[in-house]
Amino acid sequence: MTAAAAGATPALIPAARPLIGDDERAAVDAVMRSGMIAQGPEVAAFEREFADAVVGGRECVATNSGTSGLHLGLLAAGIGPGDEVIVPSFTFAATANAVALTGATPVFADIDPGSFCLSAAAAEAAISERTRAIMPVHLYGHPADMTALSALAQARGLQILEDAAQAHLASWDGAPVGTFGSIAMFSLYPTKNMTSGEGGMTSCATPEIARTVRLLRNQGMERQYANSLVGFNNRMTDIHAAIGRVQLTKVAGWTETRRRNAATLDAGLAGVAGVVTPPVAAAATHVYHQYTIRLDGATAKARDEVVTALREEHQVGSGVYYPTPVHRLETFALDLDLPETERAAREVISLPVHPSLSESDLERVVSAVSAVVGAGA
Ligand SMILES: Cc1ncc(COP(=O)(O)O)c(C=O)c1O
Repeated sequence: MTAAAAGATPALIPAARPLIGDDERAAVDAVMRSGMIAQGPEVAAFEREFADAVVGGRECVATNSGTSGLHLGLLAAGIGPGDEVIVPSFTFAATANAVALTGATPVFADIDPGSFCLSAAAAEAAISERTRAIMPVHLYGHPADMTALSALAQARGLQILEDAAQAHLASWDGAPVGTFGSIAMFSLYPTKNMTSGEGGMTSCATPEIARTVRLLRNQGMERQYANSLVGFNNRMTDIHAAIGRVQLTKVAGWTETRRRNAATLDAGLAGVAGVVTPPVAAAATHVYHQYTIRLDGATAKARDEVVTALREEHQVGSGVYYPTPVHRLETFALDLDLPETERAAREVISLPVHPSLSESDLERVVSAVSAVVGAGA
């Protein structure tokens, strides 16, 4: 008899669940026993393996977080004071923070309602004399329209910088994300499609950019105590790299499971009035870091009530990424007209799609959403 049939409250289905197995533990233990735990051979091997598995061999540099990988990547790409970088506002704050930390100005543009990613038309309208780069975010694991954005960047002499934090193994028109920009950053935070505990990986278009990211990561040192520029300590440790190397062997399988889970959710939710399942562009391979539905026309309050009801009445976890557009956060506090960004911030809910869900978990997610949204919570 199931817990539900017995009348017991079923366990909460979490919105995300990092998968750490015995092999990750063994890899960490081996590094601990080696006595060499700071950045060393594990990091170097992880960089090479990630490059081969994710970005077609483009040189990659590991850092202690995705945010620092993006920050160093932008610095290495020459972004700095006086420059403007066009970013979406419908993203995690780290996207714009990385721009601001270089001394440049993030310029916020609206999104495409289908993909939730930066709109090429909105980006074009935001270009000024000071614009140096366009930085799309492959939000939720769905790539931005890289055909339109790359054409725009080329026509206007701008760089593309990719925030691929959520999009390991996603592709656009057959090309992996992380291969379109001067730099691209993948986050390795625990809830991402693969993790190293904390960490980031920056894919670099040229050996010069990669060299600069490496220098900036390590106090600007070419060799020990030979400092050629002012840098940071943003190194990844071998302990984290050892976790990442094991996860890298599993991420393709997990991605397939995410895609299957998404197809099950698509089918189950197709007929639920008021729910818009996530569209996928014809050129896109979506890796479903998040499976994000819209509650069509909802207010933020009504959406938040659905989130609460899913958790409290059905023990289904979910997330809202992101309830406040970045341009309206206290840190930027801009009064801009970004209607699709505002609408998405009111309407979205991300449902569990992670690879550890069972068939019955997926059925529970579908029936919970049907019951709560159907009931007009
Ligand atoms: C879109 C986006 N950009 C940047 C980051 C920053 O990555 P990290 O948390 O690894 O610093 C994240 C992750 O949280 C993210 O989702």
